[in-house]
Amino acid sequence: MLAKVQSCAVIGLEGALVEVEVDLSNGLAAFTIVGLPDAAVNESRERVRSAIKNSGCLFPFKRITVNLAPADLRKEGPAYDLPIAIGILLASGQINPDERLGDYLFLGELSLDGAVRHTNGILPMVALASEKHVKTVFVPADDALEAALMRDVSIYPVETLGQLLAHLNGERLIEPYIPDPKVLDLSDQVFYGQDMAAVRGQEHVKRALEVAASGGHNILMSGPPGSGKTLLARSTPSILPRMIIEESLEVTKIYSVSGMLPSDMPLVLQRPFRAPHHTISHAGLVGGGRMPRPGEISLAHRGVLFLDELPEFGQNVLEVLRQPLEDKIVTISRAQGTITYPANFMLVAAMNPCPCGFYGDPIKECSCSASAISRYQKRISGPLLDRIDIHVEVPRVDYEKLADKRNVEHSETVRKRVQAARERQLQRFAATKLTCNAEMGPSEVREFCTVEPSAEKLLKAAMQQLHLSARAFHRVLKLARTIADLAECDVIAASHVAEAIQYRPRVGM
Ligand SMILES: Nc1ncnc2c1ncn2[C@@H]1O[C@H](COP(=O)(O)OP(=O)(O)OP(=O)(O)O)[C@@H](O)[C@H]1O
Ligand SMILES: [Mg+2]
Repeated sequence: MLAKVQSCAVIGLEGALVEVEVDLSNGLAAFTIVGLPDAAVNESRERVRSAIKNSGCLFPFKRITVNLAPADLRKEGPAYDLPIAIGILLASGQINPDERLGDYLFLGELSLDGAVRHTNGILPMVALASEKHVKTVFVPADDALEAALMRDVSIYPVETLGQLLAHLNGERLIEPYIPDPKVLDLSDQVFYGQDMAAVRGQEHVKRALEVAASGGHNILMSGPPGSGKTLLARSTPSILPRMIIEESLEVTKIYSVSGMLPSDMPLVLQRPFRAPHHTISHAGLVGGGRMPRPGEISLAHRGVLFLDELPEFGQNVLEVLRQPLEDKIVTISRAQGTITYPANFMLVAAMNPCPCGFYGDPIKECSCSASAISRYQKRISGPLLDRIDIHVEVPRVDYEKLADKRNVEHSETVRKRVQAARERQLQRFAATKLTCNAEMGPSEVREFCTVEPSAEKLLKAAMQQLHLSARAFHRVLKLARTIADLAECDVIAASHVAEAIQYRPRVGM
């Protein structure tokens, strides 16, 4: 008596089909699971046993062997409860389906009373079903909304094991889930939080943030305490361009495997904004753990990673950012294998120029020694600074600006300009996988960053006088491309290059 049902594993963000084979044989009653199960899968035995009994079925008093194939793929998590239970009921003849069950996919954790509970990572699993042309997927009812984001698969929401049995036996059918078409509507207004209009003065910083948001460039703000750095950074989500559907699905997958997807919001519509505290560990930032989980840089994928008080972060914590900042992905190696997560984020960082915070301030004198200042600034390495395209100073705001009652620009207006610039970029990169200027590689820079002759001269002079590295040269060109996009120009002019160059770090920083 052998039964086979299909289920799915998630490695990183990718799904992989898993065949659940159940064999019942005579002999001493036992229940074993083989095929590299982790602790949660092994505990599945207890949940399945109780769930079957409490659903009015008989748990077979036989020697039960469950094999999760392929055997070399590590299985983790409780999503196999439902397919194992179905396999056992099928092998013991308690389900007599009209059709072959081999074409269905079952996912879900069981509770002891037979209810099917929310399971993490449903979206990547259903995405795999769609890819492998599996047409029917049974998922926990709580996750139906999320699963239904994949439009070419029929989703059956399951509340209890008993309900699924009745469906498979043709006694009482479950209605396939029909999603609300509005769910995929990205144009819907979402709540953006902190408005930029709350920040008075600092127009040049707002401009820099607008450029950064348009092209997805990294930005570092430096200035004395209380000048509005944190306030400005926290208002960036309100000016970010809308995500396109592919971006939304990528972000949703990450939140789905991390179990951070709210059940009433199946699709992440808003770009993420992550602001980890500076005491964060290495694994918390880039991802890790025994079974690697996405870290903050992956949770910030397609959005903003805000590192406030940058020099306070551990030096080795900051250094691990170098590779993902360049490659836009992070690969975590463990004894069990390697896992790759996307990490394409825009870095927004803030810092004081020295430990007391007033170095360079025209009014308040800095009380730090030269060596203390240099030690403080050296906590952020040159290669990391080189990866930040925009460096801006945030000086103290004077009374006139703070008390100014005149209207300042609201985020809504800025966002419209950013959106227009991003749309120019999407059009430019339509034939490629890129979505913004910051993602261009050297070959794209050569292809798309055409500069006027006067701009060319300026670039040459800057290269010689500022001793720019090859990376810095490409970064200036990409930044100038974004500035030109904001000005709706196809060719980069000298003024665009000039603005891009003034965002480079001061010498000595
Ligand atoms: N430009 C500004 N316009 C309006 N309010 C401001 C401005 N700058 C600072 N503030 C006020 O000061 C408070 C502190 O600002 P914020 O936390 O952004 O400073 P900061 O530059 O991050 O300082 P620190 O270096 O100490 O972290 C804000 O919550 C706000 O009330
Ligand atoms: Mg601050």
